[in-house]
Amino acid sequence: MLNRRAFIRNTTEVAAIGVIGNPAAHGASAASIAERVIALSDLAIDLTRQGWSRPERNCRLKGKPLTIGHRQFKSGLGTVADSILQINLKGVAKEFSAWVGPDAVGGPSACVRFYVVVDGKIAAQTPVMAGGAAPVHIFANLQGAKDMLLVVDAAGYHTWSNYADWGDAAITLQPNATALPESQRYEPDMSVPDLARDNFEQPEIHGPQAIGTTPEKPFIFKIPVTGAGKISLSVTGLPAGLELDQQGVLRGSVGQAGSYKVEIIARNNVGRTSRRLEIRAGERLLAQTPPMGWSSWNAFGVDVDQEKIWKTADALLQSGLADKGYSFINIDAGWTGQRNTAGRIMPDKNKFPDIKALIDHVHSLGLKFGLYASPGPVDCGGCIGSYGHEIQDIHTYAQWGVDYFKYDWCSYGQTITAAPTTIEYIEPYAVMGQAIGTVERDIVFSLCQYGMADPWKWAAGPQVRGNLWRISDDLIDFWASVCINGFHCDRRIAAYAGPGHWNDPDMLVVGTVNFTNASLGFPGKPQASRLTPIEQQTHISLWSLLAAPLIIGCDLTKLDQFTMDLLSNPEVIAIDQDILGKQAQCIKQAGHIQVWARPLADGTAAVGIFNLGPVTEQASVRWSELTVILPRDVRLSGKQPIRDLWKRHDLGHRDGLDMELPSHGSMIVKVGSPRSAVGV
Ligand code: GLA
Repeated sequence: MLNRRAFIRNTTEVAAIGVIGNPAAHGASAASIAERVIALSDLAIDLTRQGWSRPERNCRLKGKPLTIGHRQFKSGLGTVADSILQINLKGVAKEFSAWVGPDAVGGPSACVRFYVVVDGKIAAQTPVMAGGAAPVHIFANLQGAKDMLLVVDAAGYHTWSNYADWGDAAITLQPNATALPESQRYEPDMSVPDLARDNFEQPEIHGPQAIGTTPEKPFIFKIPVTGAGKISLSVTGLPAGLELDQQGVLRGSVGQAGSYKVEIIARNNVGRTSRRLEIRAGERLLAQTPPMGWSSWNAFGVDVDQEKIWKTADALLQSGLADKGYSFINIDAGWTGQRNTAGRIMPDKNKFPDIKALIDHVHSLGLKFGLYASPGPVDCGGCIGSYGHEIQDIHTYAQWGVDYFKYDWCSYGQTITAAPTTIEYIEPYAVMGQAIGTVERDIVFSLCQYGMADPWKWAAGPQVRGNLWRISDDLIDFWASVCINGFHCDRRIAAYAGPGHWNDPDMLVVGTVNFTNASLGFPGKPQASRLTPIEQQTHISLWSLLAAPLIIGCDLTKLDQFTMDLLSNPEVIAIDQDILGKQAQCIKQAGHIQVWARPLADGTAAVGIFNLGPVTEQASVRWSELTVILPRDVRLSGKQPIRDLWKRHDLGHRDGLDMELPSHGSMIVKVGSPRSAVGV
């Protein structure tokens, strides 16, 4: 079914070619070894490309010896999956050999696989190795070869424990070698995928098709609409209490509980369109679709201030992203000052001289405003938390006009037992969840506690009434992190997502971001996402299939065209925002290929095809041979039309659709037509 372009040996072959009986047999004497063998650790191994942590010479974290299984190695490279080191062999090498495996520091959950790629072909690979595995000897013939890649990947099972070692790794030179191999930084494929640009002249209405509100509480909704020239909007069926203003923003407050079917009509010189919007008014009905907006953390860290947020709100509008449905402007850690004598929380006066004016500005644009705090004494940025002031704080936020609140565990653990019970995990969120119910505004409640104690099981329940909950550690701009947060967001938790309550694999890491954690080896300065453009496309495809909150993390004042194309594709966004609210699940895995699908409200299905293979492996996938069985509730039958969502064009009823998926690449299609669907 999958015709792998790259040359891959199966593991039996590898065992035959890759394992040598006597690794010391490189030369006759110590003197001749010294002349003919160079240790990998003698090369510039700091050029190893890996997502986090640092490549280490002859040791593991904090100077511990390289240890695979029970065996220690004095020499070698300690790295973490996924990683890659390129070596220019200059035609002078004879062979490469090493003992490889997961380092003991990663514990039992590690999962790694090693490849030696010689002149573009996989010359040796190990089986998938789990934490605790004994070292495997890997060997590659380098006669006449120019280039070697030492690759570690996680075989689709990425974790933060995937420490991997190349123990006693060495290159044996040709006897007549006149030069030495040199390591160099591997440059990944940075080609930019061809994505549709949104320059449609016809009016199009975007964003959620269902919005929740609580009667009598303030309502703001900027109608996301695009098209050429001036667009005039009108709305029919509005509930009493709401009005459409000159900027295309619905404002007011709904008087009575109920479900209101509103018709939005948009006209410009080119044409007219209309769309149904359901306004669901009742208690705690927020986030009927996954929240969309922006947060300060990935762009500015704690170095956040009023001017930056003001400019960001303006940029959300000017860039056109607000017209695609992004509506929240959220400040993460770094805004808080001290409490006044009455215990009232105050913003840091130097950074936020007038937070109320800022929030009013955001609201004046038709956008909504979010804030961040911790239930602990201090938040993760070291600023004061809500501990002991929960009710007072949320009332203060509501008075300022806060519409979204992220509550981050951080130091809360210090206030309870060392091994908290599930009840202790729930407690601070229940306190705040109840408090949110008592304020005069609707506030979307975002739980952030990294997936401890399975929040999907309790966060949306009556005790807490959360609207979204983080399922894992922070998402960072490297491939393993996208896999940990995204591809692991699977069956186990999919069923817990739905209108009003969403699994949150964390904020987006495309565009110009700034991750500052030096101890984890992050760059600490604003720079383009370290995900390749292909990986960035996969990240957005997967998040939309997962019905993930789409919270942009990049600096919106530095938006490049590719980032804009990624964030603004209305058909990809529409998958994320689909009102059925069913999160995709992985429905097929074949080698490195995974197929994820979700049913959509119009009776069609969204399907994503992903290549999780190592960097060297491009896959050709033939749609008709995928034999994808869509989830039962999709109920599509017969030949179905397929639409490429990133390119925004129909592929016809293509049984023979072929896809070339580069490593870490993907395709996302819509299958079926609303007319032919039997319904969901
Ligand atoms: C934690 C959270 C992040 C961010 C930072 C702020 O790491 O998971 O999303 O809020 O704290 O310090």
